[in-house]
Amino acid sequence: MPVLEPLSFECISHSAEQTQRLGVRLAAALPAHAIIALSGPLGAGKTQFARGVGLGWGASQPLRSPTFTLVQEHHRPADHHTLYHIDLYRIERHEDIATLGLDEILDDQTGIAVIEWAERAASLLPEDTIQVRFEIVQENKRRLTFSTQDTATWQILLAFRKNAFGV
Ligand SMILES: Nc1ncnc2c1ncn2[C@@H]1O[C@H](COP(=O)(O)OP(=O)(O)O)[C@@H](O)[C@H]1O
Ligand SMILES: [Mg+2]
Repeated sequence: MPVLEPLSFECISHSAEQTQRLGVRLAAALPAHAIIALSGPLGAGKTQFARGVGLGWGASQPLRSPTFTLVQEHHRPADHHTLYHIDLYRIERHEDIATLGLDEILDDQTGIAVIEWAERAASLLPEDTIQVRFEIVQENKRRLTFSTQDTATWQILLAFRKNAFGV
């Protein structure tokens, strides 16, 4: 049966800290392998959110906005799993994405991928990707829309929503 309802919900963040905390909460709901696609304009809060995911996941170093590297690998001491922080802002041509080794990253069954400017690789991401779209509403106000096309991943998002918002 086709999925008629979009598997999505939105929320408003009123501060950078709140956006980071949402990332922490999402990380807590994730299985060992997950792909999180962050999209939206510059300054919308993608890196803030990614930092939260890194914290909640247990990365040994804080995630930061990459300057030249497109992929930054983080590890956590507990199980040596990998978090790949990817920023496609500087991708100039779509073909350049091929040089990232995205396939192996997405196939890492004990790895988490957090991708900023993920709209630039949309066609390469699997159905079970967690999409988070960021919109700037006001100076300190952001709308975050969480969605996925996969029903099992939707359950993860529902658990996150319950944990973060109590509904
Ligand atoms: N509600 C909010 N959520 C996230 N960032 C916010 C919020 N309000 C203000 N900000 C500010 O917006 C900027 C977001 O930057 P960043 O996370 O690097 O964005 P992006 O990675 O999307 O380009 C930061 O300077 C942050 O302090
Ligand atoms: Mg960023």
